[in-house]
Amino acid sequence: MRAITIAEPGGPDVLTWCEVPDPQPGPGEVVVDVRATAVNRADLLQRQGHYPPPPGASAYPGLECSGVVSATGPDVAGVRVGDQVCALLAGGGYAERAAVPAGLPVPAGVDLVDAAALPEVACTVWSNVVQVTRLAAGETLLVHGGGSGIGTFAIQLGAALGATVVATARAAKHERLRELGADLLVDYREQDFVEEVRRATDGRGADVVLDIMGASYLGRNVAALAADGRLVVIGMQGGRKGELDLGALLTKRGTVAATALRSRPLGQKAAIVRGVREQVWPLVEAGRVRPVIDRRLPITEAAQAHRLVESNEHVGKVLLTVG
Ligand SMILES: NC(=O)c1ccc[n+]([C@@H]2O[C@H](COP(=O)([O-])OP(=O)(O)OC[C@H]3O[C@@H](n4cnc5c(N)ncnc54)[C@H](OP(=O)(O)O)[C@@H]3O)[C@@H](O)[C@H]2O)c1
Repeated sequence: MRAITIAEPGGPDVLTWCEVPDPQPGPGEVVVDVRATAVNRADLLQRQGHYPPPPGASAYPGLECSGVVSATGPDVAGVRVGDQVCALLAGGGYAERAAVPAGLPVPAGVDLVDAAALPEVACTVWSNVVQVTRLAAGETLLVHGGGSGIGTFAIQLGAALGATVVATARAAKHERLRELGADLLVDYREQDFVEEVRRATDGRGADVVLDIMGASYLGRNVAALAADGRLVVIGMQGGRKGELDLGALLTKRGTVAATALRSRPLGQKAAIVRGVREQVWPLVEAGRVRPVIDRRLPITEAAQAHRLVESNEHVGKVLLTVG
């Protein structure tokens, strides 16, 4: 088969489509003939040599894919050759074939290619917004990077769960994000999100903050929290080391959490996939949460897709189609 390999760490042009050995399914895994994969921010870091795959994972990039099952490994139940599936991976999605954990059917009403846009964002957002921060109906959710793959999903899930959703994004993306269910949009380049959140909540603040910036937003995120608020950091685009004012946090009885999906133990990932299948897939099938796809490019144009994601001009996901 062919896969995108990273010849050496570097810019988008190090991504090379070339012949590699076929994957073998391990226990609980199936082999999928990949129809599409998606570009995630983490792939850019992996390409640059800053985010190596966890031990045992494929060396090729690609944290998710969709396709058709072509073989099953030992201990696989409920999935057959010919089934259409999508999957959350620790690597290896940028390929003609991938060995993937069995577990996620393509939701009814979603095209097989477009289903590749769902696993990573659904599992990341659900595990943080529902499992970690326990967002409740009537609460206010602040989503940073509302136009990202993660952000476009978080806006929709937050709205579907009955929250008021505030999102930060550059102004050009606001209209699209309003259509997805954001109640208030903050142009973080021109406006102070702490002030805007306070204004929108009569001074209360956000109950939950889903953050992708890390250090550069830490102080302001705590300032934006309501009493009993929960901040969960999932990205470090603004740096990894920040200063936390514990006094500000404890007077609010606030919580700061941080998680990474890719390196979680298999058992935790399986539980998240089950939760997503039970709680998120029905929302997708009802049309209340949809894959948001900026564009679909052939996998041979992976370098171009990485340039696009690096530019941050996309809204939602950039897909790479195979075959
Ligand atoms: N921990 C985990 O398990 C996990 C899993 C998946 C993703 N992530 C993280 O989640 C983040 C989003 O991932 P993705 O693949 O969906 O990203 P993406 O589509 O590449 O989007 C990145 C976004 O960052 C936004 N951004 C840049 N500077 C900003 C700022 N100062 N304030 C607010 N937004 C800003 C950009 O929006 P504008 O165009 O509006 O600037 C852009 O939409 C990444 O940091 C990624 O590493 C974490």
